[in-house]
Amino acid sequence: MNPTLGRALRAAAAAALLSGFVLVSGAASAADQNLADRHVARGMKCDACHVTATGGALKAEKSDYGVCATCHGDYQKMIEKTDAKHKDSGQPNPHAQHDGALPCTECHKGHKAGVNYCAQCHSFVYKVP
Ligand code: HEC
Ligand code: HEC
Ligand code: HEC
Ligand code: HEC
Repeated sequence: MNPTLGRALRAAAAAALLSGFVLVSGAASAADQNLADRHVARGMKCDACHVTATGGALKAEKSDYGVCATCHGDYQKMIEKTDAKHKDSGQPNPHAQHDGALPCTECHKGHKAGVNYCAQCHSFVYKVP
């Protein structure tokens, strides 16, 4: 890339971050569905995540981080999968967390909007799917 253009793009990205805007990739049409609905729409049933088909307790077997990791893998696996998205964002990968066995559901919620757990202490802007 032409260095001047590269600088301009970085400046624009920094300005976007400072003003609190984030570019969110992904299907806008799925944005109004919660995480559980999006899984069900892919053919998974309630008991993909819950012990029973009606909800209640979450499955967590074979995992340090809760039910999500049984299918998606651990933080290292998620970092490998999502690192490209965070390369030029000026922020760390949200999965590069330093709180040990942090359950995935500290950020990702089943039936409501996700939570930016890191924002308790840092000013990182994350949109949690
Ligand atoms: C992708 C995983 C996932 C799927 C699939 C899923 N849930 Fe959940 N569910 C969760 C999580 C995580 C919670 C914990 C509360 C939250 O994050 O919203 C939860 C909580 C609940 C609760 C307790 C309510 C509460 O606020 O604690 C009920 C009831 C429930 N789910 C029912 C269902 C039903 C019925 C289905 C199938 C239509 C379903 N869930 C599918 C992840 C899932
Ligand atoms: C039974 C296996 C299974 C479980 C349990 C599960 N997922 Fe998934 N999830 C999938 C599959 C399959 C896909 C679609 C392929 C992909 O994107 O990896 C998916 C897609 C996703 C996506 C991207 C697509 C979207 O709609 O946003 C996110 C984010 C996600 N899962 C998070 C979670 C979280 C958080 C939990 C725990 C609450 C969870 N998953 C539990 C299998 C699972
Ligand atoms: C600190 C908050 C946070 C925690 C904790 C967290 N995530 Fe995420 N996750 C995010 C954010 C933000 C995104 C969207 C940006 C991205 O994809 O990196 C995301 C994206 C995802 C996606 C979609 C990736 C794709 O290919 O589009 C999956 C799947 C996922 N997380 C699974 C997990 C699993 C499994 C865990 C636990 C091992 C976990 N997450 C813990 C914040 C979090
Ligand atoms: C309870 C408060 C708290 C939460 C929540 C938290 N952090 Fe931190 N974080 C800290 C403290 C304190 C430090 C050490 C600061 C220092 O050394 O200057 C730190 C350091 C870091 C660093 C080292 C680089 C730096 O900026 O000094 C990174 C990267 C980081 N945190 C990322 C995260 C991410 C990603 C999350 C969400 C998954 C998160 N943190 C959640 C308190 C927190």
